[in-house]
Amino acid sequence: MSEDLQTQREQALVDRVVDSFGSAPDARLKQIMQSLTVHLHDFLRDVRLTEDEWDKAIAFLTAAGHITDDRRQEFILLSDVLGASMQTIIMNNPADADTTESTVFGPFFLEDSPEIPLGGDISGGATGQPCWIEGSVVDTAGTPIAGARVEVWEADDDGFYDVQYDDDRIAGRAHLHTDTDGSFRFWALTPTPYPIPHDGPVGAMLAAVNRSPVRAAHLHFMVTADNLRTLVTHIFVKGDPQLEIGDSVFGVQDSLIKDFIQQDPSTPTPDGRNLNGQPWARARFDIVLTPQD
Ligand code: BEZ
Ligand code: FE
Repeated sequence: MSEDLQTQREQALVDRVVDSFGSAPDARLKQIMQSLTVHLHDFLRDVRLTEDEWDKAIAFLTAAGHITDDRRQEFILLSDVLGASMQTIIMNNPADADTTESTVFGPFFLEDSPEIPLGGDISGGATGQPCWIEGSVVDTAGTPIAGARVEVWEADDDGFYDVQYDDDRIAGRAHLHTDTDGSFRFWALTPTPYPIPHDGPVGAMLAAVNRSPVRAAHLHFMVTADNLRTLVTHIFVKGDPQLEIGDSVFGVQDSLIKDFIQQDPSTPTPDGRNLNGQPWARARFDIVLTPQD
């Protein structure tokens, strides 16, 4: 068959599939399905996908479905490692030098975290180097936001979140409310790099393409306040070698890389806490929330 005829046959199929969505009553759904069809068929023809490769893709998606349950979401993980989660966040949270950038939510947030007072400790027994975190929450006019809810969660220094242990512990997570002047402060743990869950098909794919599952060290934040857009973000640790190697889910934004300043054990802690001679660190995160749309 001539190349032209082959191209015509392939294009005729794309046109038929696009047309099949033509009478969708929801205009947005129609746009999404027609565009998906065009891009999917472009991809298939670009790589000249073989039937064997199609079988492997179906097996991959089937395995992702089988490992997914209410605690494990392999499809979000796939979206994360393809950069699709981060691209969706970037598109929907346009860059604005004045407001704090967003990043991926990740699978380890829990509703109903313990509430701690200002200056309290989120570690709840999770191991790691004590780290004093302080900062403020303001709106784009610079007005301090009193009573904003600040949720924080992180892995321990073995690289695991509490929910990855089988013993129902709650550790390395808490929420607190900003002070009357919009400030917050709490004890956490200096974040360490850890791998995303990589014992499933997404991990196998990363290994096959020689990519690391490790995330740059980070501390998660979710900040909510009346009439302001909820911010989901992290702070990253300046100097973390994983920042150079790359974050497995592409979550790093330069503005979110903070100095975690190592303190000598003899340096008095900000709240007088006795750390029994342990070294500790401190970091600052000043947050600017966007008005609600
Ligand atoms: C996390 O940071 O907790 C995370 C984000 C994306 C995928 C897996 C883990
Ligand atoms: Fe995380």
